[in-house]
Amino acid sequence: MPSFSRRSEQIPFSPIRTMFRMADEIERAGGGHVFRLHVGDPDFAPPPRVVEAACEALRQGKTHYAPSVGLEELRAKLAEKARSRNGLAATTEQVIVTPGSTQALFASMELMLGPGDEILLPAIYWPNYVQQVLLIGARPRFYPLGRGYQPDLGAIKEQVGERTRAILLNSPSNPTGAVFPEATLRAFHDLALERDLWILSDEAYEDFVFGGAHVSPGSFERDLPEEKRRVFTLFTFSKSYAMTGLRVACIVAPSARAATMLRKVQEPLVASSGTPVQWGSLVALDASERPGIERMRDAYRRRRDLAVSILQPAGLADYIPEGAFYIMADISSTGLTGDEFALRLLREEGVAVAPGSGFALVPEYGPDGTLRAEPTSSGAPEYPTHPGARHRVRIAFCVSDEELREGLERTVRLVERLRHGTPAPAAARQTA
Ligand SMILES: Cc1ncc(COP(=O)(O)O)c(C=O)c1O
Repeated sequence: MPSFSRRSEQIPFSPIRTMFRMADEIERAGGGHVFRLHVGDPDFAPPPRVVEAACEALRQGKTHYAPSVGLEELRAKLAEKARSRNGLAATTEQVIVTPGSTQALFASMELMLGPGDEILLPAIYWPNYVQQVLLIGARPRFYPLGRGYQPDLGAIKEQVGERTRAILLNSPSNPTGAVFPEATLRAFHDLALERDLWILSDEAYEDFVFGGAHVSPGSFERDLPEEKRRVFTLFTFSKSYAMTGLRVACIVAPSARAATMLRKVQEPLVASSGTPVQWGSLVALDASERPGIERMRDAYRRRRDLAVSILQPAGLADYIPEGAFYIMADISSTGLTGDEFALRLLREEGVAVAPGSGFALVPEYGPDGTLRAEPTSSGAPEYPTHPGARHRVRIAFCVSDEELREGLERTVRLVERLRHGTPAPAAARQTA
């Protein structure tokens, strides 16, 4: 067999997808129900009007290519939303519709980063960021996060080097649920202006902030001339409308020129997003759909409270997430790493969570700037992990309250067993 490209061999697997596979395997092998707290896929259904509009588009034969930047009607409505809700100075031509924000991130990085260029990422991050940076041949650098996963502003400036081109912001954050205050976001923006850097603002969880309003860093440059603007803002329908499988998102480029460049980058990457789902997404933006989003936000807040009420007394939560639907639980008292713990939890209690290490891999480079990474038999290299995530697991609270409660009580049960050195009950071990 011919060899695979070096870059494809060097990227790590996503810890979330790995747990997916293992959970499926257990259920298929008759190991019983798995409590799926490992994945950020909302348990809600998309708004019925969206489904109907997408089906109607199919019935009407709207099944052909859409423009590569998206349907004009959808772009216009997204621009209007970006202006009125996010405070961006967005025109229709600055909006590029993408098949999900995963793809939007990759296209934006392609635009900003060349081989060897650097992007600053939070030290604990959504794993696809590093996969994408490495695929492009660029280099991730990490800004430290302190208490409650808030950035250490003093330390960020030191991370900016000769080759740094961009800063990635993800507030509210996956996997920590941290929401950066406006002052923090402004400090990043000031730094980007001072050092002439791009900002990539991944706002996938904009609608799930539990106290106060969401702040879009792009709003800080609303009054700047276009050539000075630098924030690429990414929004997705996946989380706000529980439309993860429909694959629609968008990039709001900071200027018409940046949008033209993005359009060019998108041409070889995607022909277009799906046409029927874009017609559905158009309806999602109607004012009548806002109460649905607010109901979901209230449900996530309630589940966050439920999760904290179970994890905190058990010594597993040392901060309170302010947004999104995740918490990085601290399992250090068990003496296990997050990877070991996640495996035991799945086998002994039938609960899937995502090991923290996968959200904190730190690729290492030699003095000549080459990535030190040799793939193992698993198909990916073993990267070192940021110590702040080694004894953590990410718990997603986008399952029903009942599933969440039961999954967390089982988690606490395993923690107690590990703390006291009690073996797993025989019945539980059989689910392995
Ligand atoms: C922080 C963050 N950004 C982007 C995405 C990608 O979302 P999608 O590609 O479904 O729009 C996710 C999905 O989990 C995410 O957590």
